[in-house]
Amino acid sequence: MIRLDNLTKVFDTPKGAVVAADRISMEVPPGEICILVGPSGCGKTTILKMINRIVQPTSGKVFLDGRDTMDMDTQELRRGIGYVIQQIGLFPNMTIEENITVVPRLLGWDQARYTERARELLTMINMKPDSFLKRYPSELSGGQQQRIGVARALAADPPVMLMDEPFSAIDPINRAVIQDEFLSMQKELRKTIMFVSHDIDEAIKMGDRIAVLREGRLVQYDTPDDLLAAPRNAFIESFLGEDRAFKRLSLVKVREVVSDEIGTVTPGDTLKTALERMDDFGYQNAILVVNSRHQPVGMITRAVARTTRGYCRDHLQNVPATIGLDDNLHKAASLMFGRDTVWLPCVDTTGRVRGQITQRAMTHHLGSRFRTREDDSGPSSMPARE
Ligand SMILES: Nc1ncnc2c1ncn2[C@@H]1O[C@H](COP(=O)(O)OP(=O)(O)O)[C@@H](O)[C@H]1O
Ligand SMILES: [Mg+2]
Repeated sequence: MIRLDNLTKVFDTPKGAVVAADRISMEVPPGEICILVGPSGCGKTTILKMINRIVQPTSGKVFLDGRDTMDMDTQELRRGIGYVIQQIGLFPNMTIEENITVVPRLLGWDQARYTERARELLTMINMKPDSFLKRYPSELSGGQQQRIGVARALAADPPVMLMDEPFSAIDPINRAVIQDEFLSMQKELRKTIMFVSHDIDEAIKMGDRIAVLREGRLVQYDTPDDLLAAPRNAFIESFLGEDRAFKRLSLVKVREVVSDEIGTVTPGDTLKTALERMDDFGYQNAILVVNSRHQPVGMITRAVARTTRGYCRDHLQNVPATIGLDDNLHKAASLMFGRDTVWLPCVDTTGRVRGQITQRAMTHHLGSRFRTREDDSGPSSMPARE
């Protein structure tokens, strides 16, 4: 666990004092990723550097697992912290293997062990050990170098990671890939991570919590969903962007919004039954048809059921799309908009129908906690302004 208590840094510069961090108090629970975001110069890098004491705090304290880091020597402190620096910072005259194993070698690991570790880490970040171990940093792309920077920080398996814009040199497509890789790695590794980003979308995707900073001050510290639903002031609201309601779509799983009550018919039912059941359930347009394993095989529209006689199996129309319970609302919304439908059946991993999701349920879910500053009327509930 990382805990900052009134952490403050004032730089004395020829132009006067610069308050890079102003009484920052916050806590990152074990195994979580906290993202620091904010405009350039707001103090993100300085905060990371005070945690591993590359920068000495002017005042305030840093605790790791409850221990005041001032009571540790810097060697001991830094051994427990993996640090990915903002400018990648690989040693140009060392091979990739040597770069990755800097810390293990300092710790006196023997060669067999650290070479094995380098191979393991390269595999973990999806780079083939045999083709990369003996290369030099200049022979790698910017994105590959950043991956090596992450591998180097993980080398001695430290419980805490400080990552300063670790993916910023990677093009958007590869960045999404490496973000996904990192998140799946983190599921296993459960590191306690402080991660700096200037990209709010990256913060929303990667963060268990997000800390928004401005001019050295912590303005809001919340889960991505809470931050997007209720930004504390105009600065954060504009930082999040006008589409913040849409951004929340990717944070919510279909299973959180699904209605498990869904009326269905089987292929052997008559169209009359289909029409009655549509009325029972209040369905305006259509009803889903499922097979004996409760998997969707088609749908019957109201227009057909009202005007035609016979069995459902002879009048099936295609279901616009189905969605999985563990998919997110972003995908659900995209399918609805793309297929011009306000409704999707939800299926589990075996394809069985488990309920349905409607556009109305989605907007209700998002809107129920969504706040704009106009909602805060009256002086007593005015949000703190910068
Ligand atoms: N070593 C230093 N000496 C003087 N000022 C510094 C030093 N390091 C950072 N600063 C200043 O502190 C502020 C915060 O910097 P930094 O933590 O690097 O911001 P960020 O990482 O959010 O872009 C900036 O105004 C920066 O110019
Ligand atoms: Mg920085």
